[in-house]
Amino acid sequence: MTLAEVLTGAVDYLTARGVDTPRVDAELLLARALGLQRIELYTQHDRPLTDPERARARELVRRRGAREPLAYVLGDWDFRRLTLKTDARALVPRPETEIVVERCLELLEGTAAPRIVDVGTGSGAIALALKDERPDARVTATDRSAGALALARENAEASGLDVELVETDLLDGLSGPFELVVSNPPYVGVDELGALEPELGHEPQEALVDRGQTQRLIETARFGWLVLEVHEARGPEVARQLEAAGYGDVKVSQDLAGRDRIVEGRWTR
Ligand SMILES: C[S@@+](CC[C@H](N)C(=O)[O-])C[C@H]1O[C@@H](n2cnc3c(N)ncnc32)[C@H](O)[C@@H]1O
Repeated sequence: MTLAEVLTGAVDYLTARGVDTPRVDAELLLARALGLQRIELYTQHDRPLTDPERARARELVRRRGAREPLAYVLGDWDFRRLTLKTDARALVPRPETEIVVERCLELLEGTAAPRIVDVGTGSGAIALALKDERPDARVTATDRSAGALALARENAEASGLDVELVETDLLDGLSGPFELVVSNPPYVGVDELGALEPELGHEPQEALVDRGQTQRLIETARFGWLVLEVHEARGPEVARQLEAAGYGDVKVSQDLAGRDRIVEGRWTR
């Protein structure tokens, strides 16, 4: 079979299994299996694949067809300037979280050597991107999941970024002070789980399900700026919680799709 035939078969297979971007996914998976750039799939379209190449491609496409997230099947994923290792130990970093990092960088402009803590760091995405883009910052990252922290450590080592990783509940045991506390806490309601895409069933449930972490963080993170990624339906509600807890300069920002996603406030007492 030629490369073009295998690609067409993969697109059909992923389409039949309900993957919403079957062509892009098939191209990325095939390119990864063959060690090619995506463009080379087309410049080499009529070359026959060897048996080992076909076996590698088939395995990746099969996993994606079982609705494993593309980032887990590929094993890495781009987040801002970094390429992070991704697997089932932690949530796949999302594009809207890149906007959270952007907002943090804006709030930290003019603050030299800021002390930052990323609560619930997962793969390390926010903490590592902030350290990468603000090398003068002192960055701590926490998570309650030992698996997530192990992945974050691998990502820190691979990217050569110096971030302190602490296994704890929210901010427990950290003394601060911090100029900025940032978090993308779990914010999916238990009642929403059934309606989610099958891909989310492969991600750690403790990374997804809201167990009151946002409210607890608002009550405990009483340092400098607090920047939270929130459920798109809860921006104004979380903003009110921040105000009620005594934060000033409260603001809701949108992601690139115009959804309320980021809530910030400043602790000034
Ligand atoms: C939505 S994921 C975000 C991961 C990463 N920050 C990102 O944006 O891709 C939430 C993370 O918070 C962690 N987590 C949940 N409850 C926690 C708690 N009480 N204390 C610390 N981390 C917690 C989960 O293990 C998970 O890694």
